Amino acid sequence: MDDVAARMHLAARMAHIEPFEVMEIQTLAREVEAGGHDVIHLEIGEPDFRTPAPVVEAAKRALDTQPMFYTSALGLGRLREAISRFYAQRYGVEVPAARIAVTAGSSAALLLAFGVLLDEGDEVLLADPGYPCNRHFVRALGAVPRAVAVGPASRYQLTPDLARRHWSARTRLAMVATPANPTGTMVTREEIAQLAAIAHEKRGHLLVDEIYHGLTYGLEAPTGAAAGEDVLVVNSFSKYFQMTGWRLGWLVLPPRLVRPVETLAQNLFISPSTLAQHAALACFEPETVAILEERRAELDARRRFLVPALQSLGFSVPVVPEGAFYIYADVSRVTDDSFAFARRILTDAHVAITPGKDFGSNEPERHVRIAYTQPVQRLEEAVDRIARFVRAP
Ligand SMILES: Cc1ncc(COP(=O)(O)O)c(C=O)c1O
Repeated sequence: MDDVAARMHLAARMAHIEPFEVMEIQTLAREVEAGGHDVIHLEIGEPDFRTPAPVVEAAKRALDTQPMFYTSALGLGRLREAISRFYAQRYGVEVPAARIAVTAGSSAALLLAFGVLLDEGDEVLLADPGYPCNRHFVRALGAVPRAVAVGPASRYQLTPDLARRHWSARTRLAMVATPANPTGTMVTREEIAQLAAIAHEKRGHLLVDEIYHGLTYGLEAPTGAAAGEDVLVVNSFSKYFQMTGWRLGWLVLPPRLVRPVETLAQNLFISPSTLAQHAALACFEPETVAILEERRAELDARRRFLVPALQSLGFSVPVVPEGAFYIYADVSRVTDDSFAFARRILTDAHVAITPGKDFGSNEPERHVRIAYTQPVQRLEEAVDRIARFVRAP
């Protein structure tokens, strides 16, 4: 070890922050591509569609006509008003703009929400499997993620019954994602209402991650904002609106948390991206929505192709996903080590998928996540390649 490395101190909390496995798979995929192979990318958690043209045009106009100064820490008033109208139009729920904070992606929204609610040692109930960054946000703040193992019986969701059973004296918050990453399953309106009632009774909070709202197939996802103003809701322009790289999301807050979130946001971020906010104003225009709805139909077609195709390979999909763009498949009939399996599918069959390991410690070796973020033709090719790999002697 050289002198500089020996002197470099690393915070103890870093021992509890694991790498994002999907990023490691991406790095390996690039190496395979550098070796001259065509890799089909089904690992990445973002749609393959470009940001809709009206949104890009709005950004270009803003660059010419608007000053690119900081905005208020809570975001542009016009955008907060537009989000408020979106709740009225899409869900029939009144959410005043004053309760909306625009953030640097839902990642910043989650950090701000956890930041104003959690003290060291406080516990957060989360479903396992679940979105990996949540447990790391919680740990980074010195709080404790309490992963509740969920499976097909509860459609991979933290049900009111499970929340009640696992709520301890230290629990401050329960969170659900609907539709969820990695399973694409949803929580019903009644379940959200019951979870909110439990949180209220226990003097804690409920946080609902709605970042995949809009990307549902056949069912409308109910919003946590309808379950009372105590419920925190996280949403994003990343997925349905296809603006991942613009880094913009939002929070719906209980009135008494608005000022603390504003104070923390001023300090951590100053403000969300001004350019991205001007662009996002075009997200709610009918011409943008028409594009997004066409793309949603395309994602649904991919889902309807891929679920049975994977089942025919011996992958089991115990709960058919109702939203997002992921299939969480049980691969225990073809391997007992999903980690090695995902790597070999990449190096031998040139298809990139994510092993269950990213999503928690609840039987990750039996599961993989496959993102249908490629056209059906590429999915067909991916299934052929995996079939050849699985059936090879
Ligand atoms: C469930 C869930 N929540 C939050 C995020 C964070 O997304 P962003 O910061 O782009 O809004 C993701 C990203 O994949 C996710 O899957």
